This record gives sequence, C-alpha cells and structure tokens, in this order.
Amino acid sequence: MSANPAPTLITTPDGKPFELPKGTTAQTVTSVEHFSPDLFCFRIERPESFRFRSGEFVMIGLPNAEKPVFRAYSIASANWADHIEFFSIKVPDGPLTEHLQKIKPGDKVLIKGRSVGTLVLDALKPGRNLYLLSTGTGFAPFGSVIQDPDTYERFRRVVAVQTCRTVAELGYIQSLRERLEADEDISGFIDGRLTWLTSATREPWPCQARVTDLLRSGELFDLSGREPFDPELDRAMICGSMAMLKETRDICESMGLIEGSNSRPGTFVVERAFVD
Ligand code: A2P
Repeated sequence: MSANPAPTLITTPDGKPFELPKGTTAQTVTSVEHFSPDLFCFRIERPESFRFRSGEFVMIGLPNAEKPVFRAYSIASANWADHIEFFSIKVPDGPLTEHLQKIKPGDKVLIKGRSVGTLVLDALKPGRNLYLLSTGTGFAPFGSVIQDPDTYERFRRVVAVQTCRTVAELGYIQSLRERLEADEDISGFIDGRLTWLTSATREPWPCQARVTDLLRSGELFDLSGREPFDPELDRAMICGSMAMLKETRDICESMGLIEGSNSRPGTFVVERAFVD
C-alpha cells in the first residue's frame, strides 16, 4: 500500500482545478455579512473532525494561488456549533483580505493545521468576574468564549467589551447580542450573567471612551455594574491592535494581574488581532 495518498483536487467556483496544499482542507462558505466599509463576517461549514477550544485561532487561506497566503483568524462561533464563523477586517491591499472580502456563499476557504491560542479558559485561573477587552476585530475570539457553557462554570460573571471607531463597526457585536438573547438555550446557560459594553470613539454613541481609558478610570466597572476590581478574584482576556495590547497589558499589570499561558495559567491573557 502506498504511504503517500494522492493529492486532493478541488474545483474552484470559477471551474479551475486546485490541488490542496499538504495539511489543509477546503470548506464551503455558507454566508457572508458586511457591517461597514472595513468589517465583515463569514461562515464556513465545520469539518466533522474539527475541534477547538473557545478563543483559539486557525490559519485560513483561499484557493487562489499555487502557494496560498495563510493568516491567523480567531474563531468567533461556539465550539459546539455546526459552522465556523470568522469576523474580519478588509485591508485594501492586504494579501489575504483583499480577496477574502469578496467571497460569496459556495466559495471555498482553506483551513491549515490545528487551532491554537492563548485566549483560552485553560490559561486563566478561575475567578469571579471575567473581562473580555477588545478593539475592532479583536472581539472575534470572545464570540466563542461567551457562547461556551464552560465559561459560566468557571466565572460568576462575564463582561464583553468592544471599542470601535464607528457605530457601523459595532454591527457585529450588536447582531451577535441579538442572536444570543433570542436563543433560549444560550440565554438559559448564560442566565443573565453576561454584560455587554460597547464604545464608539469617533461617532455619537452612549459610550465614546476607549476601552483603555474606561479601564484606567475604573468607569468600566461602574458601567458594567460590577464590583470594584480585585486582582485576586477578577480576570481579563485582551485582544486588539498592537498599540491597544501594549497599553492594556500595562494597565492590567499595574492593577496586579499576572499574564498566563497554556502551560502556566495566570490572571490575564493576551492575543494580537493580526491579519492584513
Ligand atoms: P480612536 O478612534 O481613539 O483611535 P484601530 O482601527 O486604529 O485599531 O482602532 C479601533 C478602535 O480602537 C478605535 O476606536 C480606536 O480609538 C481604538 N484604539 C486605537 N488605539 C488604541 C489603544 N492604544 N488603546 C485602546 N484603544 C485604541
């Protein structure tokens, strides 16, 4: 018997044969939704054998070149769902997003390797309140974390925070909130223990402060109706741009939190929202 399986060929929507690179699978796009000139989300079918921990990311690409460009994308959907959802930025000349922003249902997206990441419950010591702090597409991994019943086993309350420039950019978190609140099963296990806090920094919106300023001033705890912050009890996950990460990490450390990892759980964890 041959040890080398035959290369897997797929047909792209424009009818061309495409040979899957080693270690990749091709999944069909089932829906696409655009929220603003810069942000959109899309769903693909979930391969039956694909498992991930909430908060992890996976490498994705498109079957549009002999050597496709792969980028890390956090999974925004629940780890029990039958689809995988991604929340993406559109970069005009971005090697991947320039093409990805044009995908339609029926197109193929490539997934390479296993999911990994540090924004996982296993990298945090259990605690009282869990703060999920994000800007822009940095909210994506928290989409899966807030839909995981295990999150509510380990934390009494969860606060999901996203800062964007415009109100349209908050469209994804707003529609996710509506979806979860309308779903009896999900509302059942969340049981009123999830608080949403959004801010738009460049347009009128009830809160216009950056997540970092809300944290520094302590307003974040007042607005979310939570107890004063206690580093012995409270935990944070951070995901956003490089500048936001650096600033938020410094604030968390100054509040007495200690960065955790998969091998050494701590009291806060950080991941960069990558992608171009
Ligand atoms: P602002 O409008 O005040 O720049 P970007 O698209 O540049 O990543 O920004 C997304 C959101 O994150 C914007 O609301 C922006 O606010 C905010 N932001 C930018 N830099 C930081 C930072 N260092 N810390 C916190 N929020 C930031």
